Amino acid sequence: MQMKEFAQHPLIMKKAEGVWYEDVNGKKYLDGISGIFTVNVGHKNRKVLDAMKKQLDELSFAPPIHSTNLRALELAALISSITPGDLHTVKFFSGGSESTEAAMKLARQYHKQTGNPQKYKVISLYDSYHGATMGALGASGVTKRKTIFEPLGAGYLHVFAPTCYRCPYGLNYPECDILCARIVEQIVKKEGPETVSAFIIEPIGNTGGIVTPPPGYFEILREMCDKYNILLIFDEIITGFGRTGEMFAAQTFDTTPDIICMGKGMASGYAPIGGIAFSDKVADAFYGREEEQLHFNHGHTFGGNPLSCAAAIASVTEIRDRDLPHKARESGARIVERLEKLQHLGVIGNIRGKGLVIGVEFVKDTATKQKFDERLKFGVRVGKTALQKGLILRYDPNWIAFAPPLTIETTEIDTMMNIFEESLEAILMTAT
Ligand SMILES: Cc1ncc(COP(=O)(O)O)c(C=O)c1O
Repeated sequence: MQMKEFAQHPLIMKKAEGVWYEDVNGKKYLDGISGIFTVNVGHKNRKVLDAMKKQLDELSFAPPIHSTNLRALELAALISSITPGDLHTVKFFSGGSESTEAAMKLARQYHKQTGNPQKYKVISLYDSYHGATMGALGASGVTKRKTIFEPLGAGYLHVFAPTCYRCPYGLNYPECDILCARIVEQIVKKEGPETVSAFIIEPIGNTGGIVTPPPGYFEILREMCDKYNILLIFDEIITGFGRTGEMFAAQTFDTTPDIICMGKGMASGYAPIGGIAFSDKVADAFYGREEEQLHFNHGHTFGGNPLSCAAAIASVTEIRDRDLPHKARESGARIVERLEKLQHLGVIGNIRGKGLVIGVEFVKDTATKQKFDERLKFGVRVGKTALQKGLILRYDPNWIAFAPPLTIETTEIDTMMNIFEESLEAILMTAT
């Protein structure tokens, strides 16, 4: 964000409840993006607040260097009960970037101590985002966030994302035979399979415009990773904790990765937390005697912080016990239905996503898929108009995303979509 522009009209939030923020001037905003894909159980959730208050009276800090704590153990058991397959070992951090960094380091160390010391390269997607720290940025493929900091570390390779609406190979699904997934094997072979450690992917990519892979995509990747002993890492920092209509997108796409990275919705933003969950195969390589030096050589001061863990336990329990993933599926369907009704406006090019992470790509011409002139910043203008009208969305020059708290009620969805529709119509009157 450009500070000069922001400083002229700063948006300063004062409080929030449910799906509503209120700024210092008393203006209300419907939170159509869960803070930033984070507040899954909604704002001011009583159960989470009470759990945190209780925890503060008991224990607020116990560093992971010499101990663990009751809340970290409780959260580990809870996470392990909701992850797919045998992803039963967990390690906690303070946010998303720490989690993706750790997952890639875990992959490297895993291969070193299982007889494959040359495996260090990481493959990921163009237009992806895995975090702001150097390693996570190296794996990210979103040019505008990374180019200014280059050169980044060695060994990061990128492949085209499964953007079916604008296939990078000019093909159509299903005749394409999912070339964007199949081609990864060719790249691995050219690079030398003995040098590739991991493939990291957001099951649904945010920065590329809610990129949603077609059926069969992950099956091909999973098979390829198994064939060449490459760890498949799902960056579920956005998609985790009910967002895609199941607890994890791994379940939505019926694919079990070797490592899942978590953040954002893990504690719904009530306290900073992230983490990784990994398979028994990976965990076993780190379990041994002290003198063997097998332990994962990685940690952070605030990992497993008791207050963050208490918030996460309460938030995850809310998501599970209220079956918020199911509610996310229903609410997402209602959003899609409303978007489909706007097709007569002639600018809704493509609607994509799963559960409560829905994106809409704008086009100048729906028949030819011609984009609006970049300088017009069509999506940004729609997003900024919505903001003026009291709705917060994620916007980009060509697309807009909806990802409200999973607790959103149908009347609130209707309010959100009414404001969006008014904003879109307002821009269409001025901007084509
Ligand atoms: C998919 C994904 N991975 C990683 C990150 C980094 O998380 P954090 O900002 O908590 O470091 C983000 C943040 O937006 C993200 O969207």
